[in-house]
Amino acid sequence: MSQAPTQIIIDTDPGQDDAVAILLALASPELNVLGITTVAGNVPLALTHVNARKVCELAGRTDIPVFAGCDKPLKRDLITAENVHGKTGLDGIELPAPSMPLQAQHSVDFIIKTLRNAPEKTITICSLGPMTNTAQALLKAPDIASRIAKIVLMGGGFFEGGNITPSAEFNMFVDPDAAKVVFAAGIPLTVVPLDVTHKALTSKAWVDGLRAMNNQVGPAVAAWTDFFERYDMEKYGSEGAPLHDPCVIGYMLKPELFTGRQINVEIEADSPLTVGATVADWWYVTGRTANAEFLNTINRDGFFDLLTERLSRYA
Ligand code: RIB
Ligand code: CA
Repeated sequence: MSQAPTQIIIDTDPGQDDAVAILLALASPELNVLGITTVAGNVPLALTHVNARKVCELAGRTDIPVFAGCDKPLKRDLITAENVHGKTGLDGIELPAPSMPLQAQHSVDFIIKTLRNAPEKTITICSLGPMTNTAQALLKAPDIASRIAKIVLMGGGFFEGGNITPSAEFNMFVDPDAAKVVFAAGIPLTVVPLDVTHKALTSKAWVDGLRAMNNQVGPAVAAWTDFFERYDMEKYGSEGAPLHDPCVIGYMLKPELFTGRQINVEIEADSPLTVGATVADWWYVTGRTANAEFLNTINRDGFFDLLTERLSRYA
């Protein structure tokens, strides 16, 4: 008897890796995507909500409601990453402008309404970008904190440090104040940090396998990967690039591919030197209450096998 699908909201700032995460989720019957809420991050909101709809149309899933959310962080000015993702945020392949409509409701209101209308603790938020939407929803409707089953988020780093500054990962750096709100809300959290995603490196063989896939999705993912991996390979001198956001969906589908610890994680939101740092008490030295499952290993081959198998399901 197969289990009922897990109800998820994907909060995202597409971005090529976000796009792969969305495609993985939409190909997986274990997950029911209630909606895709977009936020400013990799590129401005005006592009992220278009990109999310382009990905849904590529997946043949125009039934998925896509919402526009916050166009800037809670307090700070927006910082984007066109240097990594290109000017459209989905550089690598030209996809047609979406014809599916953008929902009129704001992402924050969709998150609040959906959580209030569903039984408690039945919805997981998969957070793939700066956490502005989720934080605003918690600030606007504190009652939803106890209604969220879990937040699984790509963000932060401990042993790996940062990727946009020596101590901060991009999602946390763009909106540290939002992350601080979320990490203090008492919601079950699973953090997928750079410590994991920097082990989820693409390979030429894997990308070539996608390029040869007999559908539209495989070659599209290969083209996106060719584009965004140039930045990381140049920076880290690695053979492949980290597929950050799909690791969140990989965890939702096969948590056994990952290991981590239940520890205290605090967010630095003020220091000019280390703002956006995730201060992970990996060695339990602070005595502070554990508030997050902080992952740090991934079965890399198992993850990429899962990704290939699911993407091959697209017609
Ligand atoms: O640091 C990696 C994260 O920042 C990923 O979510 C990527 O899409 C960017 O948003
Ligand atoms: Ca992202």
